[in-house]
Amino acid sequence: MTDNQDLIDLVRTIPDYPKPGIQFRDVSTLLLDGPAFRRTIDRMIALVDPDSFDVIAGIEARGFIVSAAMSYALEKGKVMLRKPGKLPGKAVSIDYALEYGSDRIEMHVDAIQPGQRVLLVDDLLATGGTAMAGVELLRGQGAIVSQALFIVDLPDLGGAQKLSAAGVKPLALMA
Ligand code: PRP
Ligand code: ADE
Repeated sequence: MTDNQDLIDLVRTIPDYPKPGIQFRDVSTLLLDGPAFRRTIDRMIALVDPDSFDVIAGIEARGFIVSAAMSYALEKGKVMLRKPGKLPGKAVSIDYALEYGSDRIEMHVDAIQPGQRVLLVDDLLATGGTAMAGVELLRGQGAIVSQALFIVDLPDLGGAQKLSAAGVKPLALMA
């Protein structure tokens, strides 16, 4: 059995969502299976050294699900990278393009102490537009971001290469 085949089997592909030509990798079916969800988090944790980062940054919305579970298990603080207009305090924002459109993410300016080491977590890496926007926001506030962790990497879309070129090691459970 391929590593993580039990989890791969639970991620379904929906063609032409949200736009024609997009093969949407839907992790909602994996999350519905409680023991598999737990194995997902345990195996994501096994890919990193918990001593190598201070806090975990998660990207809204699907990224919050996995990053919050990791924060809980590792007792690491959680930095929220949010979609626009949701943060009550002073925030910085960045616009970015992703596989099927464009969006913006925001972060509280005081969410990061300069020099803090941050593990970036999301459910899926496609073009890397979203993850790179997260890296830029975090680094802009003085964070050290050297690794990013996903359930799914879609290598044909180039996100892993983009992250590597920016000095961020991409890690994922499945391609
Ligand atoms: C999805 C996914 C990643 C991003 C990856 O989020 O959760 O954040 O796309 O695409 P990219 O590598 O091409 O940037 P989406 O913006 O659809 O938001 P959601 O989590 O709210 O569903
Ligand atoms: N985010 C960007 N591209 C995606 C895809 N193909 N499936 C699921 N989420 C995505």
